[in-house]
Amino acid sequence: MTLDMDFVRGQFPAFQEPSLQGQAFFENAGGSYTCRQVIDRLTRYYTQRKVQPYAPYAASELAGAEMDEARARLAAMMGVATEELSFGPSTTQNTYVLAQAFRQFLKPGEAIVVTNQDHEANTGPWRRLAESGIEVREWRINPQTGHLDPADLEQLLDENVRLVCFPHCSNVVGEINPVTEITALSHAAGAFVCVDGVSYAPHGLPNVGDLGPDIYLFSAYKTYGPHQGLMVVRRELGALLPNQAHYFNADCLYKRFTPAGPDHAQVAASAGMADYIEALNAHHGGPAEGAAEQAAFVHDLMRAHEIALLQPLLDAVKTRNDLRLLGPAEAEKRAPTVALALNRPAEPVARQLGEYGVMAGGGDFYAVRAITAMGVDPEQGVLRLSFTHYTSPEEVETLIAALDQVL
Ligand SMILES: Cc1ncc(COP(=O)(O)O)c(C=O)c1O
Repeated sequence: MTLDMDFVRGQFPAFQEPSLQGQAFFENAGGSYTCRQVIDRLTRYYTQRKVQPYAPYAASELAGAEMDEARARLAAMMGVATEELSFGPSTTQNTYVLAQAFRQFLKPGEAIVVTNQDHEANTGPWRRLAESGIEVREWRINPQTGHLDPADLEQLLDENVRLVCFPHCSNVVGEINPVTEITALSHAAGAFVCVDGVSYAPHGLPNVGDLGPDIYLFSAYKTYGPHQGLMVVRRELGALLPNQAHYFNADCLYKRFTPAGPDHAQVAASAGMADYIEALNAHHGGPAEGAAEQAAFVHDLMRAHEIALLQPLLDAVKTRNDLRLLGPAEAEKRAPTVALALNRPAEPVARQLGEYGVMAGGGDFYAVRAITAMGVDPEQGVLRLSFTHYTSPEEVETLIAALDQVL
């Protein structure tokens, strides 16, 4: 079974938008196109239900019900309980709030592990715990390959470590980290686990229940949705960490770590992400029942399509001697987020690609620690080419031809 690209692209108004015609989009890791299910729900919310939700009148009840629906359906797809999923303004905002909770929870002398592979959002907020006497241990990537080796983590784990933070996959290295294995190692040492899934979730919603981490974060605006940060905090850890919300909301797990008032319309519109996954599942003959099973079916369809398109791109760049591919050259090992270190600043090259109908970006992508550790000058940055399941083989061909012109 392969993805029906006409159907897929038909779900994204951007592909019918006249001003975007003739431009192949390769900055999806920055922010994806939005599916029409989300846009329709957002429009409906703003036109029909833009009132304070959860009050006893019809428009308000519908507004609240849609917000609840988004949490319930997405949580079911990710294999967690509804109350374990919450919405915050962004992943960065969510990690700062969680880090504040851990600051109160941990005792001086206890330790956490962070990586230098992460986007700053899942490392900087945690590193600041050092200011409160928490020992911060760095799990370092291999400077040549960007690989995070679980054997190196084992050396860092002992009874003092209470939390291990790492990415499901980095937004520049692209390699998919073995979350289950790392989680098991960390749990065996008595540590909780926080996974940044921002660079992974757009390529297939993960089953967080099966993967096993205590915290899993991703950003809806990179996953066909509105500008929200989704956060799974498993019940056991959520109950232990000090409440960060108003005191009277302490008993409500999904409110405990989102002190800001929610963006009602965007939370409600996030149910459109579930609609989209359901539509893909139904169109391609996936399981008739079971939200997690349907999400898994769609996940595998997306991954298969992306892997098939990614290998030719990797093959086209891996042997060039005027650039360095960060991360693995085998498509199955990585997300289709391909960072290239050039022999010059990357941003002007991204601009040049625009002349050939390719939208891409250049810079450090807030992964300053990772690219610095790999010996890349953050001032020059990397050229990043990122796509997703709605990208067509023709667009990848356009990209490869354009790279030949500008490199
Ligand atoms: C891997 C990764 N983690 C975290 C973030 C931060 O997400 P947000 O913009 O929702 O704060 C990003 C954003 O680019 C990212 O790529």
